[in-house]
Amino acid sequence: MEIIIQPDGQQASQIAARIVAKIVREKPHAVLGFATGNTPLQLYKNLVRMHRESDLDFSGVSSFNLDEYVGIPPAHPSSFHSYMWAHLFSHLNIAKERINIPDGLTADIPAYCRHYEQAIRSAGGIDVQVLGIGTNGHIGFNEPSSSLSSRTRIKTLTEESRLDMAAGFGGQEGVPTHVITIGLGTIMDSRMCLLLAFGKKKARAVARTVEGPITAMIPGSVLQMHPRTVLILDKDAASELKMADYYTWVYEHKPDWQKY
Ligand code: PGA
Repeated sequence: MEIIIQPDGQQASQIAARIVAKIVREKPHAVLGFATGNTPLQLYKNLVRMHRESDLDFSGVSSFNLDEYVGIPPAHPSSFHSYMWAHLFSHLNIAKERINIPDGLTADIPAYCRHYEQAIRSAGGIDVQVLGIGTNGHIGFNEPSSSLSSRTRIKTLTEESRLDMAAGFGGQEGVPTHVITIGLGTIMDSRMCLLLAFGKKKARAVARTVEGPITAMIPGSVLQMHPRTVLILDKDAASELKMADYYTWVYEHKPDWQKY
């Protein structure tokens, strides 16, 4: 794992945007894995700006989102479909037919999940998977106790996750109980994982992801087995890392050819 600690989320998101942009420039038909939530908002703003102001071209790109609520129509204001169109897709030249977000209204969830896995494989696999992390250590909606080799499937949300999502649904009672999420095995198949975490409330989950044992109780910890994972953190999210000084030194002394 590479750990990059920045003074704030703004600077962290600029590095994340440079990483995604480099992949798109080098591989015009790149397959991008997107996440929702507060954390990647600044990354998406940067990508939109780079698309507007430079030659960053998304016309050949495909995308797959991590998850969607079960039983929520795409047009619902708190659906992940609405989020992605509002913050990213409406502002890029990405082809509509190559955008994939799980369908929370599908009639046959197991068949749909198999189809989603197959669609990722047919597209050539995910080149870079953007990830946030839950306060409970989930990535995607792979809640604690998820199989470390899980594939796309239905998951039941924990109370903690439903509480974190309450604002979008007029309180915790209104938050859907189930989601479709790509699995930890699916995430592990990505060529690169880019995990962003900002704020004190993520510090414990980050420390356990990076420096704790690999355990299904902290699903993010499976990334210790991933050959190319970069975590970009602000100072607060990094505040419980025991080896923070070492990670900072490593980043500051990277050879030029390794810099983003
Ligand atoms: P957040 O959510 O970016 O809104 O903090 C992250 C997550 O729960 O995965």
